[in-house]
Amino acid sequence: MSSPLVLIVNGPKLNTLGTREPEIYGTTTLAQIEEMLRKRAAELDLDLEFFQSDVLDELIRAIRGARERAAAIVMNPAAFTHYALALRDAVEEAGVPLYEVHLSNIYARETFRRHSVISPVAAGVVCGLGPAGYVAALEAAARKLKGNA
Ligand code: DQA
Repeated sequence: MSSPLVLIVNGPKLNTLGTREPEIYGTTTLAQIEEMLRKRAAELDLDLEFFQSDVLDELIRAIRGARERAAAIVMNPAAFTHYALALRDAVEEAGVPLYEVHLSNIYARETFRRHSVISPVAAGVVCGLGPAGYVAALEAAARKLKGNA
């Protein structure tokens, strides 16, 4: 039997992690975060698929497509977090638990970052833990899929 699939979705500019505002986002690259997740997923017996895009339509399509294929989603919606209602609607429509991740503590930053349109439809939210937040979200998804959360 194949392992449940968790989709790891990253929004705009997260492909530049490592060099983008390292004082806020650290120096870990997206490839390194993906490697951390791959290792943990192997221990948790989960399959992963990674998707990053700067384009809202592409992210919406990836989330919508999850309905038939994925058991859970871990997403850092980046700047779309704060205003992309179409992304929020796609999350609701996807009908699988979605864990929202932010590397930085969005509540300790500019006022416009303190509001997420995604959080009300997320199964959980992790912020301010840096790359470890992605792993925490994956672990929460695994617990949920096993019926322990
Ligand atoms: C972010 C926070 C967002 O406000 C910002 O636009 C990002 C990254 C984070 O991971 O802390 O691109 O989602």
